[in-house]
Amino acid sequence: MTADELRSKYIEFFVSQGHAQIQGKSLIPDNDPTVLFTTAGMHPLVPYLLGQEHPAGKRLVDYQKCLRTGDIDSVGDPSHLTIFEMLGNWSLGDYFKEGAIRMSFEFLTSPRWLGIPVEKLGVTVFAGDENAGRDDESAAVWKALGIPEDRIRYRPKEDNWWGPAGTTGPCGPDSEMFYDFGKEPCGPDCGPGCSCGKWLEIWNDVFMQYNKNAEGRYEALARTCVDTGMGIERTVTILNGKKSVYETEIFEPLIAGIERAMDGGYRYGGDEEKDRSIRIIGDHVRSAAFILGDPRAVSPSNLGAGYVLRRLIRRALRHCLKLGIAKSPLLSPLAEIIVEKFRGSYPELTENRLYIVEELNKEEEKFLETLEKGEREFEKLLPNLLKDPRKIMGGRLAFRLYDTYGFPIELTEELAAEQGMKLNRAEFDEAFKKHQELSRAGSGQAFKGGLQDHSEIVTKYHTATHLLHKALRLVLGEHAAQRGSNITAERMRFDFSHPAPMTSEEIQKVQGIVNEQIRRDLPVSMDVMGLEEARERGAIALFGEKYESQVKVYTIGDESTGIFSREVCGGPHVERTGSLGSFKIQKEQSSSAGVRRIRAVLE
Ligand code: ALA
Repeated sequence: MTADELRSKYIEFFVSQGHAQIQGKSLIPDNDPTVLFTTAGMHPLVPYLLGQEHPAGKRLVDYQKCLRTGDIDSVGDPSHLTIFEMLGNWSLGDYFKEGAIRMSFEFLTSPRWLGIPVEKLGVTVFAGDENAGRDDESAAVWKALGIPEDRIRYRPKEDNWWGPAGTTGPCGPDSEMFYDFGKEPCGPDCGPGCSCGKWLEIWNDVFMQYNKNAEGRYEALARTCVDTGMGIERTVTILNGKKSVYETEIFEPLIAGIERAMDGGYRYGGDEEKDRSIRIIGDHVRSAAFILGDPRAVSPSNLGAGYVLRRLIRRALRHCLKLGIAKSPLLSPLAEIIVEKFRGSYPELTENRLYIVEELNKEEEKFLETLEKGEREFEKLLPNLLKDPRKIMGGRLAFRLYDTYGFPIELTEELAAEQGMKLNRAEFDEAFKKHQELSRAGSGQAFKGGLQDHSEIVTKYHTATHLLHKALRLVLGEHAAQRGSNITAERMRFDFSHPAPMTSEEIQKVQGIVNEQIRRDLPVSMDVMGLEEARERGAIALFGEKYESQVKVYTIGDESTGIFSREVCGGPHVERTGSLGSFKIQKEQSSSAGVRRIRAVLE
């Protein structure tokens, strides 16, 4: 059975059980600042699990692309993936344990659906603790359906409790379903849930009963819900008698593509170390393509989701080089294979194909330069490092590689490991922290509006904020004052007072004015002066903001170009506006009464 067939069957089965099919959502959640990516099918449904009515009803089904980076370093073994697809069905205050388990059982075992023999299945249920009792109810349902008692295991909270997806949100005890590969048990305690390789988890039924609040307390939900998740890749693996997700049709064209890039001289399965590199490339390229192909795509950066993307791309590139794949571009041809393979279920990949290819190529070029420099430096250090009998590489040295050459710490760690050395990560982290504190102290004043970081792109956005602020005042009038701003490496948000939605003409005008100032490549200068003097010189200061008596004033433009904007601000800013690239307003919407919000990007 292919992944496409499994997706269709799942949806068909649950629709036949009264569920409405809903659309899977973006990989980048918009309702949960505590996580970077959508990590489960339930993620976009959190508000409904917490009590809101869903327009499609009380029984829902979908498939959802998910990304988990917690165990990014395990990727490379035969079963771990960063990106995966999850099939899910939900009950929002409708059926609960018995209904969920009966449907799971029927879908798994009925010859009309997956037809997995009952004797190949095992399950786990929650053993109970101070938050919820032992789940005898679920165990009894499984038993009544024909799962023998010795294949029903009670497991503690670490194993049989799911959620919340971020730090707060809905959660509850769960019951997990495992496939038995038929290997000998690893010991007397071996059973469903054991990690020896005999059992593979394929599905999880979560009985959502609580909302974990910000204080860490469990509050009962207004109504009990069910959240389930079946892993597509794993289920396709077992349905086709394979041992590893990488042996399935899902990865087949991608692995063939990597073999071709290796000039056809190698076949997957011949050498464990090469295979590991192939799996890492395969997984990471797939993740990168999905992140870049998402409607809310980010680009590689040093922050947040953009940093994860950068890490995935860079690690994949390193393993390409390790395999001797040298013909650039390395990754974008592989990404094209993914776009093609998933065109039916994820049309956004096709829509964003050009962006995926361009971003991968850009990042590749950048990284190859960095890598060359960093590896050369590492090799210079190596003779000395190898003299250490404890085989430990100092964290401060690693920090120097990072700080001077931009060489990623994970790669230093990997290079060290290849030489049988361990990196002193704690020492690196300490050096990193100290460096951060120093640069923060050096910046003097507090930043306004959620500016979190000094990376190059964030600095650019900060300058763009000033240009936008001034442009809005020019187009809409002096009342359009800044009410807040928030900058990430991926975008800027800017809130300002204005009583009505902007017309598209006004938006175009504002965008045009900002881009005009970028094209003029205006100089940006900073002076320190008293607050009064700043006001006299026409500097915009933020309403309601507390300032020191001496403030920094940033001026865009000078006497020769004419002054475009002057603001009291902690900085930092770029030296000339020409470095900003191209400014684009993506959205203009209401933020609160009398306050509008603009989301914009620099491209
Ligand atoms: N949310 C549950 C999981 O991810 C179904 O396992």
